[in-house]
Amino acid sequence: MSDTTQPEIRKGLVGVYADVSAISKVMPETNSLTYRGYAVQDLCENCCFEEVAYLLWNGELPTRAQLDAFRREEAANRALSPRLLKAIEGFPHDAHPMDAIRTAVSLMGMEDPEVADVSEAATRRKAMRLLAKIPTAIAAAHRFAKGLAPVAPDPGLSFSENFFHVVFGKVPQPEVVKAFDVSLILYAEHTFNASTFTARTIASTGADIHAAITGAIGALKGPLHGGANEAVMHMLEEIGEPENAVAWLEGRLDHRALVMGFGHRVYKSGDSRVPTMTKYAERMAEVVGDRRWMEISRILAAEMLRRKNIHPNLDFPAGPAYYLMGFEIPLFTPIFVASRITGWAAHVLEQMADNRLIRPLSWYTGVEQRPVVPLAQRG
Ligand code: ACO
Repeated sequence: MSDTTQPEIRKGLVGVYADVSAISKVMPETNSLTYRGYAVQDLCENCCFEEVAYLLWNGELPTRAQLDAFRREEAANRALSPRLLKAIEGFPHDAHPMDAIRTAVSLMGMEDPEVADVSEAATRRKAMRLLAKIPTAIAAAHRFAKGLAPVAPDPGLSFSENFFHVVFGKVPQPEVVKAFDVSLILYAEHTFNASTFTARTIASTGADIHAAITGAIGALKGPLHGGANEAVMHMLEEIGEPENAVAWLEGRLDHRALVMGFGHRVYKSGDSRVPTMTKYAERMAEVVGDRRWMEISRILAAEMLRRKNIHPNLDFPAGPAYYLMGFEIPLFTPIFVASRITGWAAHVLEQMADNRLIRPLSWYTGVEQRPVVPLAQRG
């Protein structure tokens, strides 16, 4: 190939294997996803989120003693410094919560005593501090924006119970906590998605985990990635009633517009996480006594399949599930952050353990080389 022949460009890196990984495996042909060899559905029915976080970071499920120690460490690290709380209080109250948590994580890095230590041991400790503090920061920013005082985390509560506690000041019935916990397990990890690849790229430069996670949060915010769970709920609200769903969808497809919560780069015949999340979203609809959103969802999913042969992704059932749990829509993608920090950190550790700078090539299509015309002669 001469240097004037454009090589094959895989726009969006479609179908490109960028590295090996032992953390999770997506099998689109069977619609399955495993974390460290365990099917996600199996993990959802048999484990809590903390067990899955331990699994992602350590490669094996914990024993009872290991889980207890992991939980104690997470619970002990939840509080924010007074300085960080004050900084969060000063954030613009109309800022999107994703911008708030991205900035709060960046600030956590500045005050972390081990920020510059990129050894595996220090990175693991910092990952634990991030896991523990992110819910506190999300909830504090949310409450300050509403003119409410933050709620101090409760170390006696599980990760999911505490999330409700810091956001609402109370913990709902166990069925609601279980549905939330399942959503966190499903969101925890998903191979080389855009935000994880961002985290790995940043880690590959030798930068610390706070830098990597700050960048990953930026990547997750977009509506083509994590931001879709919020967009789904805005869409369902716009449709309003089940009888409007078909006409709304037709209008959307006539304009070749995207229908949020549908499609996936890897899964082309169904997202393996959707049936489990849908089951728990249906349970939330029963608990709340409002089937409207699930009914609109059911119609949209059937019509998208019939008209476009496109299946929903995890964000489609997660959006209404969070809404039915009582969360305001701008908190949906930050909840994704609170979960995905586990997968991101596992990838940062994996990247650091066998690092090579991530630096692909671009094929230049701009103007040919030319001389600089001095300013005085440019007219
Ligand atoms: N609505 C309508 N049409 C769609 C959708 C959708 N949601 N998704 C894909 N299509 C269409 C595309 O327009 C394309 O049509 P064309 O061939 O006529 O141009 C065709 O389906 C194939 O799509 P791809 O190009 O293969 O999709 P790609 O892999 O580039 O993008 C993506 C995947 C970004 C997820 C896309 O499906 C999308 O934008 N979905 C909506 C946003 C969303 O839900 N994102 C969440 C992703 S999952 C997650 O982050 C947990």
